[in-house]
Amino acid sequence: MYSKEELDKFKKAGQIAAQARDYGASLIKIGASMLEVTEKIEAKIKELGGEFAFPPQISLNDIAAHYSAEPDDKIIFKKGDLAKLDVGVHIDGFIGDTAVTIDLGENKDLVNASREAVENAISIIKPGITLGKIGRVIQDTIQKYGFSPVKNLSGHGVGEYVFHGRPSIPNFDTGDSTILEKGQVIAIEPFATPGHGMIYESGNANIFSQINQKPVRNIITRQILQEIRTYNSLPFTTRWLTKKFNPFKVNFALRELLQKEIITSYPPLPERTHALVSQAEHTLIVDDPVIVTTKI
Ligand code: CO
Repeated sequence: MYSKEELDKFKKAGQIAAQARDYGASLIKIGASMLEVTEKIEAKIKELGGEFAFPPQISLNDIAAHYSAEPDDKIIFKKGDLAKLDVGVHIDGFIGDTAVTIDLGENKDLVNASREAVENAISIIKPGITLGKIGRVIQDTIQKYGFSPVKNLSGHGVGEYVFHGRPSIPNFDTGDSTILEKGQVIAIEPFATPGHGMIYESGNANIFSQINQKPVRNIITRQILQEIRTYNSLPFTTRWLTKKFNPFKVNFALRELLQKEIITSYPPLPERTHALVSQAEHTLIVDDPVIVTTKI
């Protein structure tokens, strides 16, 4: 398991992620710009001494996750939007992952459903709890509001430079009898929707991560892969690359790297029936009592 020093890094990453999350949430208002808010969150993370565990994501309405601002993003938040802000920070690879939903419409119950689900899950977590029981509490809480949990999205372990590791933590009762052990670090992230409760991949991805080490010949692709290597296999976004390289070169390189399976992509995840989706997420260290690293 982790040393005290490593757990302290998880805690520091969590603290910075929580501050950036709350700062970002305060900026998401009707008329504000997706691009500006995203870049302010990034600047805040840097200012606080954190590194990005993944690009800040602000996914709107029926998109549950995996939208990060495009290099020339034109989205302006409007009345009625439901924004999921997901922030990931690392310190020397040790990750804090946290999300909140900002309601620019009238969806208070939907926001409360996912927030209460994560809180109720945290309240029962201790060494020895089964994953099925956590899923049960999340499902019961969300259904009490008359909504459904999104079944094909789940919480996850986090580790050193591992942003989505084992175990996978279900958002409904799967009957999984796997138990959590003291010292494990996990993220709990329920999603709630009045829709069917399943998401699929759709649209152009702007989030990627390196999954293989292979040589490439093309000089442009090689240059860009050199930059991608500095992300240490953690997710990155097109916008970070176009700050340093010509956008045409970036797109060319990303296509080649995808085709060679050196990187993988994470397309936006809309809900199947295009219903609204809310999300809440905390990272925690399994202990008795549990240590939530992303609470301020
Ligand atoms: Co997460």
